[in-house]
Amino acid sequence: MSPELGTILMRTLSPNILVIFGASGDLTHRKLIPALYNLMCDGMLPENFAMVGFARKPNTNEGYRADIRQTVEKFSRTKPINEAVWARFETMMHYQQGDYSTSADYEKLAERLSTIDAAQGTNGNRLFYIATPPEVYTAITEHIGLTQSLKPEGGWSRIIIEKPFGTDLASARSLNEHVHRFFDEQQIFRIDHYLGKETVQNILVFRFANGIFEPIWNRNYVDHVQITVAEDIGIGNRGSYYEKSGVVRDIIQNHGLQLIALTAMEPPIELDALSVRNEKVKVLKSMRIDDAHGDGTVRGQYGPGKVDGQVVSGYLQEEQVAGDSQTETYLAMKFYVDNWRWAGVPFYIRSGKRLPLRTTEIAIQFKLPPLLLFSHNTAAAIEPNELVLNIQPEEGISIKFGSKEPGSGEKVQPVNMNFAYGSTFKSPAPDAYERLIIDAMLGDGTLFTRADEVEAQWSLISPVIDGWQSGSGSFIEQYRAGTWGPKAANDFIALDGRRWRTL
Ligand SMILES: NC(=O)c1ccc[n+]([C@@H]2O[C@H](COP(=O)([O-])OP(=O)(O)OC[C@H]3O[C@@H](n4cnc5c(N)ncnc54)[C@H](OP(=O)(O)O)[C@@H]3O)[C@@H](O)[C@H]2O)c1
Repeated sequence: MSPELGTILMRTLSPNILVIFGASGDLTHRKLIPALYNLMCDGMLPENFAMVGFARKPNTNEGYRADIRQTVEKFSRTKPINEAVWARFETMMHYQQGDYSTSADYEKLAERLSTIDAAQGTNGNRLFYIATPPEVYTAITEHIGLTQSLKPEGGWSRIIIEKPFGTDLASARSLNEHVHRFFDEQQIFRIDHYLGKETVQNILVFRFANGIFEPIWNRNYVDHVQITVAEDIGIGNRGSYYEKSGVVRDIIQNHGLQLIALTAMEPPIELDALSVRNEKVKVLKSMRIDDAHGDGTVRGQYGPGKVDGQVVSGYLQEEQVAGDSQTETYLAMKFYVDNWRWAGVPFYIRSGKRLPLRTTEIAIQFKLPPLLLFSHNTAAAIEPNELVLNIQPEEGISIKFGSKEPGSGEKVQPVNMNFAYGSTFKSPAPDAYERLIIDAMLGDGTLFTRADEVEAQWSLISPVIDGWQSGSGSFIEQYRAGTWGPKAANDFIALDGRRWRTL
């Protein structure tokens, strides 16, 4: 973050206590605590700040501080640990053992928070972060809502809820209704950590802080959009989670649809939470799945194969996976955005595990020039212009265009003009969670998913899952680990006379 932004934040961040539910878990250790430590290193946390970790696992303050020191050593982006910063940081870290469904434990938590308020000047402001598995989201929100002493008069209280937010439209609606019984929408921050990534935020800067791209960002110039969210890893030890999720719930319903919405949305009238999210919701509501061929999806599941030279097992051989599992580890879909800007322009998206590499990108492919003057001098067909927004791991932007090959002929070669984030801005980008935690402390919901937005996402995806469950959707085809998914995915896009980008 820039020093200027740092100064602005220091002026407006109020003292507060962050209470993390599920503080003994993986997300807290790998992401949340390292994010807090890095914010502390950058001087971004308020002077009067404390974190209270709440979980069932017995532990003491000292024990918890020792635990998180290890994870910060391992996962922090700033290394090695700065001892002076750590000495102050650890005094802000507290642990409170408790059960998520026991009212008395929330009363004890409230007492603890009052004591910290008195000692550390945190003014009764509370940011509750639910970082547990979704099974306990409703119990925790209800108990926070009903425990008045957790929300002292004069302080603010806000709640961050991790993904997944629901497993289908009905459950997302019901969770929204439940949380709204205890919190106003302005107090609720639904996480999609992709929105905290610098390069995802840069989509808006790229589009709306530059004059040259927006005039061609529409159906008159764009042939199609291709989004790839590829992972080379398998499911690791998260078999039981993945069996219920699949790539449709893990990636497409949330990150995938967010990437499409940011690419397709109209310019907001202001860069505030209301205006930005209004525009995204409009896009989501104007989207439809192209089901001209089947249900508009291609599903795959990785079999044994080789990734990065290593032999890896197939999905069905992974731990906690049913031998006859019908969970997809690869999904390709085609959407249309039925509005004046995008009518008729396909948005293809593909995502999968055990693909040849880890990469996320949005590729805008433009139409060919109306007259192909040079095509007779070129053995290969002239390639269309492409603008690629690389989200990870190499963050940057590239533009492909045709150039004259040196020599006396008129041969056209595709070449790339590249901008790489890392080499231009020398400082490493903050982790998504750093930005999101600060925004929630500021009460800025721009980078969080609004209730109607999450329901609009599920309205698109739920019918597809229902179709699969009733046996009317696409079949699951195995693909060899380390390849670009099932053969049907190539046929799917080839039906439109197009092909997936070679990455
Ligand atoms: N891990 C990630 O990288 C990641 C990324 C994106 C989103 N998320 C989301 O963040 C949330 C937390 O993820 P996580 O990986 O940290 O989960 P986790 O490690 O499985 O669980 C977090 C903590 O919740 C408690 N817990 C686990 N299962 C429970 C259950 N059935 N009932 C009550 N408490 C239970 C445990 O603490 P105690 O037993 O000590 O109470 C555990 O340490 C999930 O909703 C996940 O989808 C995680």
